[in-house]
Amino acid sequence: MRVLVTGANGMLGEKCTQRLNNKHQVFATDVQENLIYDSPVNYSQLDITEFKQVEKMINQIKPEVVVNCAAYTDVDGSEDNKKLAKTINVNGVHNLIEAVEQYNTHIIHISTDYVFDGSHGPYEEDDEINPINYYGQTKYDSEKLLIKSNLPVTIIRTNVLFGNTQSKGANFVHWVIDNLRNGNPIKVVNDQFGNPTWVDSLAEVTEKIIDKKLEGIYHYGGEDYLSRFEFALEIADVFALDNKLIKKVTTRALNQKAARPYKAGLISDKLQNSLDIKLYSIKDALKEMKSEIEEIEEKEDG
Ligand SMILES: NC(=O)c1ccc[n+]([C@@H]2O[C@H](COP(=O)([O-])OP(=O)(O)OC[C@H]3O[C@@H](n4cnc5c(N)ncnc54)[C@H](OP(=O)(O)O)[C@@H]3O)[C@@H](O)[C@H]2O)c1
Repeated sequence: MRVLVTGANGMLGEKCTQRLNNKHQVFATDVQENLIYDSPVNYSQLDITEFKQVEKMINQIKPEVVVNCAAYTDVDGSEDNKKLAKTINVNGVHNLIEAVEQYNTHIIHISTDYVFDGSHGPYEEDDEINPINYYGQTKYDSEKLLIKSNLPVTIIRTNVLFGNTQSKGANFVHWVIDNLRNGNPIKVVNDQFGNPTWVDSLAEVTEKIIDKKLEGIYHYGGEDYLSRFEFALEIADVFALDNKLIKKVTTRALNQKAARPYKAGLISDKLQNSLDIKLYSIKDALKEMKSEIEEIEEKEDG
């Protein structure tokens, strides 16, 4: 199938591009001029906020599936840059819907547990939506646009993505590893809970959704429900780093710009009942990630 991936340079976009290209004809796109990793895939620059660009590309490629991994994902930044967050996360999705309408393209869109308020997670698909920060609001608004469209649509809500990716910006595991390796103490919240999701496994889930043409809203998270602080300790353990550098802090003391759901996270039962998928434990996923990193470092060392 012809699959257009947006945000292909991001964490999930990279893994989807690499994985889906083994089976489908992937057209990878992102707002940057070039792809930031090696891949034989077709790559074009595409800003999803520019309707004319989106329309032109869709008319050229006529994709059977669009996997929308493009987003403004800076949760605190979304409070200061509301217009930008809305333009990318809401108007961008609107542009994709408008452009594919005549082709009845299947849109697979990635959303977040931040559409919930975190009062009693982990959450099921039909729990009450109540975003408490602007990022969560934009992601909910884009979900509504997709539901309202007459297109075949799949919304996958996920949380705390991690994996070995070229894009390291919002990658918590890389942040912890880099700081601990350099001997820098880090403050990590002990009152925000979720079930971190190995991004490779989410790419596999995306592939299965395409194959089965599964539509609807689905949650997908990892097997372990824990605080960010506990997650950081797991990372230190698997990567044999000094866990004494990890300092516990409360959300209140950290004073992040955007409000955070405390008990977030997702229950994946509905997806597990629909597809043959696996939920990964943090340990197993981190071990896989470690072997990948070691392999790359060995190659670099010659
Ligand atoms: N990361 C998480 O923990 C997490 C948790 C729950 C849900 N999600 C959702 O999962 C999806 C993928 O997240 P991710 O972590 O892979 O995101 P990411 O690493 O931030 O990647 C997003 C990509 O989209 C690109 N982008 C930004 N504006 C664009 C535009 N106008 N047109 C085209 N591309 C644009 C970004 O480029 P720049 O870097 O240049 O801006 C980046 O390459 C998002 O929808 C996110 O909301 C993520």
